[in-house]
Amino acid sequence: MENTLVMGLQWGDEGKGKIIDVLAEDFDAVVRFQGGANAGHTVIVGSEKYVLHLIPSGILHSGKLCVIGNGVVIDAAELIKEITGLRLRGIVIGDNLAVSDRAHIVLPLHVALDKAREAARGDGKIGTTGRGIGPCYGDKAARTGLRAGDLVSPGLKDKIAQIVAGLNKQLTGLYGAAPCNADEIFTLCQSHGEFLKPHIKDTTRLLHRLRDSGKTMLFEGAQGAMLDLDFGTYPFVTSSNTCVGGTFTGTGLPPSALGRTLGVAKAYCTRVGSGPFPTELNDSIGAMMQTKGGEFGATTGRPRRCGWFDAVAARYAVKINGADGLVITKIDVLDELEAIKVCTAYELGDELADWVPADVERLAECKPIYREFPGWRTPLRNVKSFADLPDAASAYLRALEEAVGVPVKILSLGPERSSLIRRS
Ligand code: GDP
Ligand code: IMO
Ligand code: MG
Repeated sequence: MENTLVMGLQWGDEGKGKIIDVLAEDFDAVVRFQGGANAGHTVIVGSEKYVLHLIPSGILHSGKLCVIGNGVVIDAAELIKEITGLRLRGIVIGDNLAVSDRAHIVLPLHVALDKAREAARGDGKIGTTGRGIGPCYGDKAARTGLRAGDLVSPGLKDKIAQIVAGLNKQLTGLYGAAPCNADEIFTLCQSHGEFLKPHIKDTTRLLHRLRDSGKTMLFEGAQGAMLDLDFGTYPFVTSSNTCVGGTFTGTGLPPSALGRTLGVAKAYCTRVGSGPFPTELNDSIGAMMQTKGGEFGATTGRPRRCGWFDAVAARYAVKINGADGLVITKIDVLDELEAIKVCTAYELGDELADWVPADVERLAECKPIYREFPGWRTPLRNVKSFADLPDAASAYLRALEEAVGVPVKILSLGPERSSLIRRS
């Protein structure tokens, strides 16, 4: 099995968790490389529902090594909560979880700053998850961050004193918020370090050893291409590279370690938070997608905005990431529709655009041009092969492939592991 990246092609929540969980069976290790606890990856196993924020979605399979790479930002309290919660449900977490010593730590001050900055933005808010992601990556870039390795190093107290002093200046001076106490943060970080010590490792070295011994890896993207810091709808994006490049910077593996890239997209589109969304539907069809698709954030519970499949954005994401194939999820949500639309181009003033413009104000002006397809009007959940799909569903998938430019390799027809069909 070639090392495989599974990443979102839209604005996150494409169903990556479910796909990773199913594919994990075929790999030795599952590796997160960017993002943090802003991610919420849902996996349904029988009657049990798991929502994973930091731990790779391979954790539900025994014998799989789960790696949190250096590119991830870790809220240690959240990670400990996740480990403890999973253990209480009978999931074994020990040597099978490795956390990079180079990964940056999200401190309570980052969370406070995230919230304060959002409040200060008023109507222009990004709609972040409030998990401290932007401020933590900001400190990483500013070279003032704290890393997981620091949690278990003797210099922790001094580092915390310096970092807390700097962050308190911003919190109190810029936002009038209450300062944090450095001693309290030190005590907290020290206890987090003690808990996480068995897992904190040089994961780059570990991943290279795995690679050299012929073990296989599944890379688990968080968020989606349209939320990428460089290629997404800036500034309404997250603060990491959700696109393919993040796989390498977030692990220390070279591009030659990646065999194939699968891009996950819903059969329609959703977005949480602010920012342009050309195919958004503020009508009964959008409401149906939200209700039937259970479109409420797995991390924040916020309702997700819903709309038709945007093939311009998906094609752009496929190109940027060199995706080899599509994974289409949640097609069952469209089962009852009489007609289904796909946006194949944007009208932008007098021009026809087939590429996502860099400027969000221009993207907000884009009017979708749709192709319309008849619905299949029958439940797809129990379909067992591509050959058994109703003609209308096959035609819809063919249209997506044609518009996006790569074949559909996997189709997900329901949240459960078994509701999935593959095409070689
Ligand atoms: P992720 O962040 O990409 O892992 O996606 P989320 O877990 O945030 O959101 C996807 C939601 O859709 C979860 O509630 C999944 O259980 C659910 N889901 C995944 N695939 C399917 C599918 O094919 N059909 C339906 N109806 N639900 C699905
Ligand atoms: P998964 O991995 C959907 C969105 C937020 C906000 C923007 C910035 O579950 O697909 P941040 O907290 O990262 O600074 O917020 O990004 N966002 C997500 N939307 N799924 C996610 O993760 C997201 N992670 C962040 O809603 O618009
Ligand atoms: Mg999610």
